[in-house]
Amino acid sequence: MLCLKQPDKRHRVQPRALPASRSSGVQSPSKPRSLAKFKPRAPKAVRSSPAQKSKTPPFLPPLEPSIWKPVPVAQEEVDQALLVDGGSPLELRQIAEKVWAGQSACFTRRWKDLLEVRKALNVVATEHLASLQDAAEAHRERRRLLRNCARRLFAEVSSSGELQPAGGPPLGYVPVLYEDAAKLYFRANDITALNVAWQFFLNGLEYSFLPNKLHPFFGVYFTLSPVEHFQLLRDWLEKLKPANSWHVLDLGTGCGVITFILRSMYSDMTVTASDLCPNAVFSVRAELQRWGVQGVKVVQSDLFAKLEEEGPFDLIIFNPPWVPRAPEVQPSAGDVVFGNDYPADLFDRLFAEAPAALRPGGHLAILFSNYAESRGLVSQSPLKACEKAADQLELLEVHERNVPVKDRSRHRQTRRDKAWAFKQDHRVELWHFVRR
Ligand SMILES: C[S@@+](CC[C@H](N)C(=O)[O-])C[C@H]1O[C@@H](n2cnc3c(N)ncnc32)[C@H](O)[C@@H]1O
Repeated sequence: MLCLKQPDKRHRVQPRALPASRSSGVQSPSKPRSLAKFKPRAPKAVRSSPAQKSKTPPFLPPLEPSIWKPVPVAQEEVDQALLVDGGSPLELRQIAEKVWAGQSACFTRRWKDLLEVRKALNVVATEHLASLQDAAEAHRERRRLLRNCARRLFAEVSSSGELQPAGGPPLGYVPVLYEDAAKLYFRANDITALNVAWQFFLNGLEYSFLPNKLHPFFGVYFTLSPVEHFQLLRDWLEKLKPANSWHVLDLGTGCGVITFILRSMYSDMTVTASDLCPNAVFSVRAELQRWGVQGVKVVQSDLFAKLEEEGPFDLIIFNPPWVPRAPEVQPSAGDVVFGNDYPADLFDRLFAEAPAALRPGGHLAILFSNYAESRGLVSQSPLKACEKAADQLELLEVHERNVPVKDRSRHRQTRRDKAWAFKQDHRVELWHFVRR
């Protein structure tokens, strides 16, 4: 049965302050296979919740108040939403039309209904955007509108992370991130983000070149494919032969993969890892504790803003976002996608500020890709901005490696949506500069 009515006011959620600190369930760290400076940590007590029953989550230190997390839907917004407690495919299609037109909907009975409405929204989007000729523009517009629609689909989640509509994924991050909540409403895209991020955190990322798995915290950038740029970096480092006494900056550390590459290749090297995103800083600090690695300092910094006391560095490695930020996207601090694409001024700032952070003769390695260029998102590589700093930075060489075409999605719908984006190869690059 389809029921279109306002949700029960009993579901009111009080606004809450960010928790000052929080421990999640913990696990004894697994032993690294070959890292030096490993000190085993004592296992801590495990706190169980329904979402954690089957698998113990990795160790997390107390949560820092600066952590970014999805903001639950305000009760006033929930009160405005259609209440959906079931419905035939036709009725769910009608809901999709209303959501496309700007209405929000709260799903109370079956998670499947929300998924059906998302599926129907794909069809509605195709119908509405049929007139757009440019494939790349149509793809971007479709993604933008569907993302906005997903923000208008709500579901209730209990404090232990159980979704109220039956059949949905348990959200292991909810008891970790929202300690004091009784119940919350989340948007469909935040539910997906929380669920996917939890799976990666719980199961970890396995990189063939690292001795241990990495466990990226919520909202932290990571990639399992491509990895060719990491291979390019490792090969380049082997030729460069940095001294163990070097002080190296992993700028924009994300989940710390480059820091851990450095530590696994050069065990005595002093490394500073920095990121704009507080979740990345928290994630890498937690990972260092799990691995028992010493000699790495983690700093939250927008490029070099908070790194004055750390430098000068012998080597700076930066794997920046590869895709330009679309003009209509205005993420603000606290938005977990902040930092996944680059703002127009990022590379001008980078080349203006990097020389002062390097010792004379110091190296800057930028990992990049022609992905955006080959897809017409930019007319030329933004790294051409380096020409403005040519008096201080000499570009020695650009090393390249091809990334073969891969069908990266197992989902038929997603595969079709992404087809335009993946039909071409792209190339990863390592731009090697030296401070004059
Ligand atoms: C493509 S990810 C790379 C992450 C990681 N180094 C890797 O190779 O997987 C780019 C990272 O740079 C960070 N970032 C973006 N803009 C930044 C800025 N202005 N200052 C510091 N970090 C930034 C993002 O938060 C993100 O973690």
